[in-house]
Amino acid sequence: MTNTEVLIQELVQKHGRNRNALMPVLQGVVACEKFLSESAMIAVARELDLSAADVYGTASFYTFLDTKPRGKNIVRVCKTISCHMQGKEEIIKAIENHLKVKVGETSHDNKFTLLTANCLGWCHKGPVMLINDEVFPSLTPDKAIAIIEEFSKKTN
Ligand code: FES
Repeated sequence: MTNTEVLIQELVQKHGRNRNALMPVLQGVVACEKFLSESAMIAVARELDLSAADVYGTASFYTFLDTKPRGKNIVRVCKTISCHMQGKEEIIKAIENHLKVKVGETSHDNKFTLLTANCLGWCHKGPVMLINDEVFPSLTPDKAIAIIEEFSKKTN
């Protein structure tokens, strides 16, 4: 049995062998492995007695459940209306230029993946980005780059 399969069995034991366990189990896999591989999704389907299509559909609907390998830090810039009106486009451009990536890509040094996200619940302090699970509100392009640089120094 692979490590992933062992992990999934543990998660299923913890959350229960039913459909309600699907999200927590998928989140548990992402928390440990950083992304959801195809084999992990198939193993989850098998353990929970669901179809692989069902599991894949759920994983791709919730973009927080990454289905591709990612960089060590995941940057998600909110793209929803309030942040859009408060200048999220400039933030995204500044980060793209700085990391030399487009949204959806991972930097060459594998330190950052740049993504967008739906409303993060900080609309009153937009534009907002999330790095891993830390929220950074009231961004300007310079502030966003300074934060990314801080993370870059902390990441080997
Ligand atoms: Fe960006 Fe709500 S619209 S946090």
